[in-house]
Amino acid sequence: MNTSVTMTTRQAEHCRQQERKLYAPDWLTCWSFLCVCVCVCVCVCVQDLQNMRAGKVCVMTDRNLAGLPPMRSVLESLVRSGIEHKVYDNVRVEPTDTSFKEAIAFAKKESFDVFVAVGGGSVIDTCKAANLYACHPDADFLDFVNAPIGRGKPITGALKPLIAVPTTAGTGSETTGVAIFDFEHLKAKTGIASRAIKPTLGVVDPLHTLHMPERVAANSGFDVLCHALESYTALPYNMRSPCPPNPINRPAYQGSNPISDVWSRHALNVVAKYMKRYAVRDPEDKEARSSMHLASVFAGIGFGNAGVHLCHGMSYPIAGNVKTHKAKGYNVDHPVVPHGLSVVLTSPAVFNFTAPMCPERHLEAAQILGADVSRAKREDAGPLLADTLRRFLYDLEVEDGLEAVGYSKEDVPALVKGTIPQERVTKLSPREHTEEDLSHLFEASMKLY
Ligand SMILES: NC(=O)c1ccc[n+]([C@@H]2O[C@H](COP(=O)([O-])OP(=O)(O)OC[C@H]3O[C@@H](n4cnc5c(N)ncnc54)[C@H](O)[C@@H]3O)[C@@H](O)[C@H]2O)c1
Ligand SMILES: *[C@@H]1O[C@H](CO)[C@@H](O)[C@H](O)[C@H]1NC(C)=O
Ligand SMILES: [Fe+2]
Repeated sequence: MNTSVTMTTRQAEHCRQQERKLYAPDWLTCWSFLCVCVCVCVCVCVQDLQNMRAGKVCVMTDRNLAGLPPMRSVLESLVRSGIEHKVYDNVRVEPTDTSFKEAIAFAKKESFDVFVAVGGGSVIDTCKAANLYACHPDADFLDFVNAPIGRGKPITGALKPLIAVPTTAGTGSETTGVAIFDFEHLKAKTGIASRAIKPTLGVVDPLHTLHMPERVAANSGFDVLCHALESYTALPYNMRSPCPPNPINRPAYQGSNPISDVWSRHALNVVAKYMKRYAVRDPEDKEARSSMHLASVFAGIGFGNAGVHLCHGMSYPIAGNVKTHKAKGYNVDHPVVPHGLSVVLTSPAVFNFTAPMCPERHLEAAQILGADVSRAKREDAGPLLADTLRRFLYDLEVEDGLEAVGYSKEDVPALVKGTIPQERVTKLSPREHTEEDLSHLFEASMKLY
């Protein structure tokens, strides 16, 4: 507890110094997410396309979804309305720099004036990148990729409108200015983060999620869970540093703040209510599936502004170093640790570690997820939330820790090494951490039950 007191004092001091510089510009951007338009409807917004004066539309999806009802209904309405379009269905599930570049090349060849992404986070992220680079034909691929891996240049040019039609529940990518890919030679994920790549419109139709296989529903639901928990416990916006010298360098992830808190807490409540009992096992349960679909949007607006921290930062090498793990229920021909699984496996250890910095929020999260906190003390927050999460994962039949997806103690140094460059997210951890702390967190996540 001592460390937590000193860190809080230090951070409070820092906060006072930064206060005047930080407050005004940051609040402005907090409001900006209210402009993200999310349309909750059962139509594929053909009229929106017409309003956008779409001449030639680029429709992106993956090969599995290409034959499923969400994509069929989009194509039918495009054909019915006579809107000219081309389909790119070669999106890689869990995209890489190579697969991003293929999609970019496709987009550059034609002159599209609107993009439509039909799929999970893999498709929506790929489509964001294709739009970005097609509109910046002279840019080098690394120009907009997050520093220190890429150059992290600000995006100044205008992009074409992008309509995101999410089919998982989910990444919330329809609301965020983030596109994630696996940078193959680093064996870790990184991405592009800028408000400029936020979709123009999200079409959130719960019927699109009814066909998700059981494990896709579970894993994408864990992503929602972690988005909510991480953004709610992220370093507060007024303790974040350094203050960017120019607002154009203001990060997309700004730390937890009173606005994102509303979205994150609400998302967590919906996950607690619907995920465990209905949403995963019973695809016929439309109330549960649509509630989770909305929760992914709520959490997306929360974390898209506040940020995520250690579960996500540590997940990028867990996904990137995959050896042979074949994900149950995923119709893909390459080894993969699905994103939601790679984030949730470290969550008990991570929140046990971060709890001393804001025990009230960790206790509140445990309570929302069903724990009895009536007699819990502040110092119980970490173990209590960790136990609650472990039970939640056990009930949903999650693999027993990193060992079950192919890792052992020998892999810990590589996993730590792949986490270091993820400072865009890890620096939003409420608790500062060393490489040794990261090693402990990975080791503690080898087995869960
Ligand atoms: N941009 C962001 O803000 C953000 C946030 C979190 C994660 N991500 C990224 O998103 C990706 C993961 O996305 P995801 O979890 O949505 O899954 P996904 O897009 O990788 O899809 C997973 C699998 O489910 C299938 N599928 C998707 N919807 C389906 C449906 N309705 N019916 C049947 N099958 C369906 C897909 O074909 C695929 O095989 C990762 O690359 C992750 O890093 C991005
Ligand atoms: C939680 O953290 C404490 C103190 O850091 C540690 O002793 C304990 O083993 C951790 N428990 C879990 C479940 O990670
Ligand atoms: Fe995520």
